Amino acid sequence: MNILLLGHGARENVIAETIRKSSYAKLFSYMKSNNPGIAALSEKIEIGSYSDMDKVKDFAKKNNVDFAFIGPEDSLSFGVVDVLQSEGIDAIGPVKMLAKLETSKSFTRNLLQKHEIEGNPKFMVFGKENIDEIDDFLNIIEGIVVKPDGLTGGKGVKVQGDHFNTKEEAVAYCKEVLEKHESVVVEEKLDGEEFSLQCLTDGKTVLSFPAVQDHKRAYEDDKGPNTGGMGSYSCENLLLPFLKKEHVNEALKITKKVVDAIYSETGTYYKGIMYGGFILTKDGVKLIEYNARFGDPEAMNVLPLLKTELAGICQAIIVQDLGKLKIEFKKKATVCKYAVPEGYPDNPVKNEKIEIQSSNAKIYYASVDKKQDGLYMTGSRAVAFLGIGDNLEEAEKIAEEAVSKVKGKVFHRKDIGTKELIGKKVEHIKRIVD
Ligand SMILES: Nc1ncnc2c1ncn2[C@@H]1O[C@H](COP(=O)(O)OP(=O)(O)O)[C@@H](O)[C@H]1O
Ligand SMILES: [Mg+2]
Repeated sequence: MNILLLGHGARENVIAETIRKSSYAKLFSYMKSNNPGIAALSEKIEIGSYSDMDKVKDFAKKNNVDFAFIGPEDSLSFGVVDVLQSEGIDAIGPVKMLAKLETSKSFTRNLLQKHEIEGNPKFMVFGKENIDEIDDFLNIIEGIVVKPDGLTGGKGVKVQGDHFNTKEEAVAYCKEVLEKHESVVVEEKLDGEEFSLQCLTDGKTVLSFPAVQDHKRAYEDDKGPNTGGMGSYSCENLLLPFLKKEHVNEALKITKKVVDAIYSETGTYYKGIMYGGFILTKDGVKLIEYNARFGDPEAMNVLPLLKTELAGICQAIIVQDLGKLKIEFKKKATVCKYAVPEGYPDNPVKNEKIEIQSSNAKIYYASVDKKQDGLYMTGSRAVAFLGIGDNLEEAEKIAEEAVSKVKGKVFHRKDIGTKELIGKKVEHIKRIVD
């Protein structure tokens, strides 16, 4: 079986590793830069831009691929799934119209509202025509979050208290957003603990992966600027220390209703990953956003635990047979920690060499370039280290040992997955729920 894998990061590195566990699965990988982890797992690679649809199409056809697996959101937003479909090649990943679940925050909020699906905070969508009405809305919500209605690479959302303080600043930012985007979503700020529930769907059935918690802030104790994610953890009972089974079920119920709503709204089946960013609040589980692909780092926590063959799951998604499959996971804890360049995310050092030592952790390459004389960082998160253990303490030790041995101009968050930090999250939930 020939599979086209699109993407060049650590997320695609773990997807590649998991697909290759089936001996019949051969990978043909199209990436923006040469990821040595992916290259080592592939029959053939092609380096190119994700917006060059002809190049992707030619590579797929030349290698007779049976289906494609789309890693990154920008490819989905360019409509790569539609292009491949027109050549008779199915994909794991939604068509452009349905990728709006991620690319348009207003599409998702409005969909939930129209279909009376629980999980929305109070929100309103503003454009140039109704921005004058924003003051009334700001007066009825407790705290403010402003979200540009489009892909911003994780850099567009601004939260009151973190990025701005006053209503006037919120209005000014909304107006600034409207210079570049059609609309802006303004919503109530929720207090709670965030978690990621990544799901697979064939448009009819939804199956979920274990819950994961990511850490967006660059520095220890959740301080500093937002990043793509500095690391993440999951627990051996497949829940989280602050999250009960009933909360995961609430989140899954929301995702199932969204899958049904998408079909009833568009007549098209959503096939691929539906990754919900949720937050547990005093009023139960609320939805922060959906992504139309796996999380990075969260893919690293869950895919290595999968006991069911991923290549088989992909085939089931394509023929819409997911209802007949049961997916199973190893009951292990995981901790993932990223080594990132000094200065990341605002002023990262670039073209600096790093050296990785051998350890018990799994290694997934992200923004690195393999040259003749070694591995160089390209400015974003460099290498992810995953510890797997019988409990969090064991998993954290493995990840920490590996990431702290990297030589070069890098840093990482020592606190991810530690008892101390997780204890604070449990306390936070106790404080707001009681
Ligand atoms: N309604 C909300 N209340 C509180 N925090 C929020 C809310 N919406 C978003 N955030 C915070 O902002 C971050 C980014 O928002 P998100 O919707 O995930 O956008 P993106 O990932 O596209 O940047 C979230 O992870 C969360 O920490
Ligand atoms: Mg997000």
